Amino acid sequence: MTTAPSTRARHGVGAPPIRLGINIDHVATLRNARGGRHPDPLRAAKLAVEAGADNITAHLREDRRHITDDDIARLTAAKLAPLNFEMAVTPEMLAIALKTKPHAACLVPEKRTERTTEGGLDVAGQHNLLAPAISKLVDADIRVSLFITPELRQIETAARLRAPAIEIHVGVWCDAFVEGRTHDAEAEWRRIRDGARAANDLGLEVHAGHGLNYATAETIAALPEIVELNIGHFLVGEAVFVGLAESVRRMRAAMDKGRQTLRHSDTEIRVGGT
Ligand code: PXP
Repeated sequence: MTTAPSTRARHGVGAPPIRLGINIDHVATLRNARGGRHPDPLRAAKLAVEAGADNITAHLREDRRHITDDDIARLTAAKLAPLNFEMAVTPEMLAIALKTKPHAACLVPEKRTERTTEGGLDVAGQHNLLAPAISKLVDADIRVSLFITPELRQIETAARLRAPAIEIHVGVWCDAFVEGRTHDAEAEWRRIRDGARAANDLGLEVHAGHGLNYATAETIAALPEIVELNIGHFLVGEAVFVGLAESVRRMRAAMDKGRQTLRHSDTEIRVGGT
């Protein structure tokens, strides 16, 4: 059902809450630079949850360059907050996910040579590879999200694959925003906004992540379809200056401020993908 725009919706009062998932990969990057146990990603996760993070995100890469199997085991045992297990779709990671049973699994593309996750998952081109993996995870009660660019064909395939959620790759927009490339930032923003709406209309839960900082998180929190942001590098980087708890608190405040200002008062607000 589509509702007419209302004053409540226009001003964000009726928007669903937005969750903050802290990605702790780069706490592990720092630890691994010297070996040993310090700084411990588990301690960082605990601090972040106490400061207002809702979920913990950790990416167990094939090359184990940051998060390790032991980190995942300790995070799972500690039950600090729902764990979002970021993973490539490989037999090894699928087996680990099914054994670990995290709250959620975010399926991402992975290349050994990349510094960080570079593009979105080509779900439209890999339907047959992804379908059985998604079914196994969903059957195990793991909430699957697909990390994709905001293209309609990717979004439609995600819905056909019966993934409950997508995470929109917002890295291109974040880079353009931070570098002051206004024209590119506006074009990419429109793609994100329209993609989030289309996904919501198809019944997908919509998350966003990659490259977010306080300003971009505040801006994107104003899209009512987006109910979760996953943020790592910036929060861990800011922790050098203000401490991790404070960087999480400031991020939470930025997101809450953004949520007060819905950015599509121009059109109808669609509710719950109906
Ligand atoms: N979401 C996904 C799917 C990612 O791959 C990453 C990067 O690991 C993030 C969110 C977090 O990105 P960033 O570290 O740039 O905040």
